[in-house]
Amino acid sequence: MACAKLNSLSSQWIANNPFSSRRGSSSLSTTRGVSLPIRASSYSDELVLTAKTVASRGRGILALDESNATCGKRLASIGLDNTEVNRQAYRQLLLTTPGLGEYISGAILFEETLYQSTTDGKKFVDCLREQNIVPGIKVDKGLVPLPGSNNESWCQGLDGLATRSAEYYKQGARFAKWRTVVSIPSGPSALAVKEAAWGLARYAAISQDNGLVPIVEPEILLDGDHPIERTLEVAEKVWSEVFFYLAQNNVLFEGILLKPSMVTPGADHKEKASPETIAKYTLTMLNRRVPPAVPGIMFLSGGQSEVEATLNLNAMNQTPNPWHVSFSYARALQNSVLKTWQGRPENVEAAQKSLLVRAKANSLAQLGRYSAEGENEEAKKGMFVKGYTY
Ligand code: 13P
Repeated sequence: MACAKLNSLSSQWIANNPFSSRRGSSSLSTTRGVSLPIRASSYSDELVLTAKTVASRGRGILALDESNATCGKRLASIGLDNTEVNRQAYRQLLLTTPGLGEYISGAILFEETLYQSTTDGKKFVDCLREQNIVPGIKVDKGLVPLPGSNNESWCQGLDGLATRSAEYYKQGARFAKWRTVVSIPSGPSALAVKEAAWGLARYAAISQDNGLVPIVEPEILLDGDHPIERTLEVAEKVWSEVFFYLAQNNVLFEGILLKPSMVTPGADHKEKASPETIAKYTLTMLNRRVPPAVPGIMFLSGGQSEVEATLNLNAMNQTPNPWHVSFSYARALQNSVLKTWQGRPENVEAAQKSLLVRAKANSLAQLGRYSAEGENEEAKKGMFVKGYTY
């Protein structure tokens, strides 16, 4: 019960703090011996363990939680229709890749996949468990326009989230993901940042209450022609609000994972930044904003090429960090796989091999030992799309 103890200890400390009692300010209900309500989830120990398993050395997350609409776009890129059968075939290819568990610690699924099985009738969650990969679930309900903002958006999904999360846990999920976005060219407005941070914090508290480790993902979109300094400024603002509200919602920091964007110049900025510069800015931002109690930073790829995303991650792991610094990529793990597969059964093995190549490259980058030597041209192609939705 390590974490429950940690929580109750802090509660006790507030209650018994003699310094607080002497001051007698109105906020100090502690003078009457009432402790502040710091909640210890019954899942605390399990949350900490799950987060540590996902943030384990040399491993990261495979994100395949594209909504049906987005998955349809991926399938269309290789000439396939967006049918349940085709989505199942593609997800089966990914989730049954032999040896995947050596490099992948967690897989984020879309709801359909969480309840789906292979064509032989084996549940996808069991395929994952066999490889010591923790099943995760996308729980947000997507973005809609935010009235009163600069054409920005907010993320839906809090209604009924507790009930859904309890069901996902029963089905085998042990972590969750909620992606909201912040747009630099649109401001971002104070309203959009506050809404993003508050939504993430409420989601995180609800997830922990139901045994799911929340991945906290305020994606700062690559869109724009701003310099890297501007991204740093916005990222610091966003993460300071996120942690403010996470703390206000009594979220257990040891039982969360973060999914930040890397701090880069806007996609249309005239100068590109090197992996070393991106690592320097990104780590500066994280060191200023993220407490060391957080076990893992699992970056999104955000439209970078497969090789770029891996090189940047590698640069961030050249010196020790207070947290596990790793990946939670969708596009930067799947692009070569899709191109190799082309929807043909005879290409499944080759496509699985190309997934392993990418997963291993990122595993090496997590350890700071990756070199881009021998990488093919396809893996160097950027995948940035303006206003990308998930
Ligand atoms: P990308 O790595 O494609 O940016 O994925 C973002 C995401 O949120 C996946 O879960």
